[in-house]
Amino acid sequence: MTEKRYDHVEDMLHFIDESPTAYQAVANMKKTLEAAGYTALSENDDWQLTPGGRYFVTRNGSSLLAFRLPAGTLKAFRIAAAHSDSPLFKIKAEPEVADSCYVRLNVEKYGGMLCAPWFDRPLSCAGRLIVKTEEGLRTVLVDAKEPLFVIPNLAIHMNREANDGYKINVQKDMLPLYGDASAKGSFLKKMAFLAGVSAEAVIGQDLYLYPCEKGIRWGAEGAFISSGRLDDLECVYASLTAFLASDPAEAPDNGLVPIHAIFDNEEVGSSTREGAGATFLADTLVRIAEAMGVSAAGYRRLVAASFMLSADNAHAVHPAAPEKSDPVNRPVMNGGVVIKYNANHRYTTDGVSAAIFKMLCDTCDVPYQTFANRSDMAGGSTLGSIASTRVPVRSVDIGLAQLAMHSPYETAGAADLESLIRAEKAFFETPFEETEDGCVVMSEA
Ligand code: CO
Repeated sequence: MTEKRYDHVEDMLHFIDESPTAYQAVANMKKTLEAAGYTALSENDDWQLTPGGRYFVTRNGSSLLAFRLPAGTLKAFRIAAAHSDSPLFKIKAEPEVADSCYVRLNVEKYGGMLCAPWFDRPLSCAGRLIVKTEEGLRTVLVDAKEPLFVIPNLAIHMNREANDGYKINVQKDMLPLYGDASAKGSFLKKMAFLAGVSAEAVIGQDLYLYPCEKGIRWGAEGAFISSGRLDDLECVYASLTAFLASDPAEAPDNGLVPIHAIFDNEEVGSSTREGAGATFLADTLVRIAEAMGVSAAGYRRLVAASFMLSADNAHAVHPAAPEKSDPVNRPVMNGGVVIKYNANHRYTTDGVSAAIFKMLCDTCDVPYQTFANRSDMAGGSTLGSIASTRVPVRSVDIGLAQLAMHSPYETAGAADLESLIRAEKAFFETPFEETEDGCVVMSEA
């Protein structure tokens, strides 16, 4: 039995608290990467890359790829992917709905969330404002960090079916209350003020509601954690932490190019300019290869030798509904990293990629378990199968077991984060190569 460790839990919960939307998540990662000596690249510029260099590039301020180059010849990309977005309520362009009593915000769903837990809890607002300047436009991130709204339930006396499966109508039931009638016209001004910009200069916005509750560790012996956006910022944090922990002082000559790959828009199908279904990853890999003088044929060899971990959280067995899980492929919280399977390839895992991942876990003593949906239930999908059609790398879908996926407050096992960090660190560091279909050779660095 591996000893349970919680070294990164507090820091991870803090990262999530500071990352209410994908924009803040990417901005926080940029800060961490820059502090660790990584250089920001722009997709608009020529890239002059040097062996042993450390770099990152963003698209739309909501997706990010960080990579570092080996000292010698490139041999394989090692991509750990996760997603920066979570289901939230987006505030519409004309944001206020006012009547003679109240001002509410006009919102719509982003992604498929559980609606009921959004009622009766303090909510705040974050995102980005697009500001007109003398030179043109500039984007300013904003996070109100204070309770500004509540979506009030209807009292039981006015809705006797409330406990018997009430159907929630987002447009009618879920507009957050912001102020009394005197607050009319003040919401965008308030956000501009909080962002430190003039309200008149704000001519565009992408703003979202988020729950104010902070992440906590709780339960008998602190076995559990609860927070917003564990799906998938827990995996984002694990990947970044493993990526930086595997960064040696001197670039190794093992030919591996570790890549921390974070995509926006997984919750809405990934088919956007910055999603996993877009060209962001492929474009970046091609540009790395070109900058390092790799031929077109050499690039294809590189991709063939590469591997991707697609990390997105998985459903743990639910204490009140254990029958919803597969009879045996049913992960538990604190049971280790979950390997996700689906016969119809909604997950990329197959026998070979699962075996490669298990081999890596064994090198660093990380426990793993398996997930599959019940055969009579359709499940979700994730970014691995979408990204790997763009960049045809061998891939495995993994994640951490959690409850209440897509609730504004999700629950996971406190000990699992450390397991994922260790497994991803081993993934970035351990040389192995699939020399022919299904045959893998572990090689010395
Ligand atoms: Co997810």
